[in-house]
Amino acid sequence: MARATHSFPDSFLWGTATSGYQVEGQSTNTDFWRWEQLPGRIAQGHKSGRACDWWEGGRWREDFDRAANDGHSAHRLSVEWSRVQPAPDRWDDAALDYYRQMVRGLRERGLTPLVTLHHFVNPLWVADTQRNLWESAEIVLLFAAYVRKVVGALGEFVNLWATINEPNVYMVFGWVNGIFPPGKKSIFAAMRVAANLLRAHAAAYCVIHELQPQALVGLPIHFRPIFPAHPDFWPDRWVAQTQFNLFSSLFPDAVRTGRLRQVLRPSLPIPEAKGTLDYFALNYYSADVTRFDLTNPRELFGRRSFPTDAEPDSSGLYASCPLGFYEALKWARGLRLPIYVTENGIGDETDGLRRRYLVTHLRQLWRAVNFNWNVRGYFHWSLVDNFEWERGWTHRFGLYALDTETQVRTPRPSARLYAEICKSRALSSDVVAQYTPELLETLFP
Ligand code: BGC
Repeated sequence: MARATHSFPDSFLWGTATSGYQVEGQSTNTDFWRWEQLPGRIAQGHKSGRACDWWEGGRWREDFDRAANDGHSAHRLSVEWSRVQPAPDRWDDAALDYYRQMVRGLRERGLTPLVTLHHFVNPLWVADTQRNLWESAEIVLLFAAYVRKVVGALGEFVNLWATINEPNVYMVFGWVNGIFPPGKKSIFAAMRVAANLLRAHAAAYCVIHELQPQALVGLPIHFRPIFPAHPDFWPDRWVAQTQFNLFSSLFPDAVRTGRLRQVLRPSLPIPEAKGTLDYFALNYYSADVTRFDLTNPRELFGRRSFPTDAEPDSSGLYASCPLGFYEALKWARGLRLPIYVTENGIGDETDGLRRRYLVTHLRQLWRAVNFNWNVRGYFHWSLVDNFEWERGWTHRFGLYALDTETQVRTPRPSARLYAEICKSRALSSDVVAQYTPELLETLFP
């Protein structure tokens, strides 16, 4: 068969994404660390411990070398608030300087940094056991002050920012199903938190632009398309739309309109949030099908499952559904903003599924780019296996496998596959034939 190639533009960014808590290790002054110590919170009682040892052991250096050698041109990381501001009246300049070294280290290796300012985790003083400040409007100015400090310190090397990672997941996991700290189950508290997350994002947007007019600021959304089980049965359609409106599109719609949708209440005006996005940050993993089910009020009377042709991973949380990725990109295009895919990946220790996942999802990404949709970069989750929140170390997302005892990294075949794609800035039939021969006929007929 003749060689065929799906090419991407030279300026397209190729990278991986990580978050501070999940890779740094020893993030002891945080709510998630405290949470980890409680029985039953993390699968098999796992602990983040040294994680990927980026902080004390400085292993970010060797991991950035891996990314650079593999032809990546960008990397997304996050700053841990607890390190920069360990107490309300104390800034740690040494920690800020360490983050400066990291982002400079990326630039020195030819990688463009994308920096997230909040990724699920808080300093203990923000998340007091009695009083979590995300439930109070006080958080807005506190977060803005922290953002000012970080942007002042890192701005020389960074102009791509993400304010708050996945506010929709954070609100649901922390305040609806209680999987993350503070472990609450109150829809009304969740709505208060959603409003404060949005206000804090808007304040951060203004601070970043004040310091750096040319910055690009995003708000990464965990985007899960939901298809009605029976499209001609209106209750299924209603449930799918309601779940979508209150999860995937909740925050982007609020930024578009300046009003935040609420449950059982009229929408809340938050005018300062209107227009506070320079690009859409899309985190896509998986899609769902939903059917109306009166017995499940917790999920807004829907019962979710995976599309029949989707391939589930070992966790039962995600399944490979490349068409869902295309749908997500199509939806995002409607916002008329540049798009960066800030996370996409699958947990798969053995790497068989990941290779198929990568190839089939990048094929959908290429379709979008080929239609001239304004997609500017792709960050695979993740570079090295890292601490996967409530799933501990049971769910492995790395292109590189991590031995947590020895800190040895071993490339999975997907690391080489992704390196070939990044280096050639293309998905070619040769690469598909080598890594996923079973897909060759479908992708390059
Ligand atoms: C989060 C990551 C997480 C990934 C895989 C995303 O929702 O932003 O922190 O590791 O999902 O579960």
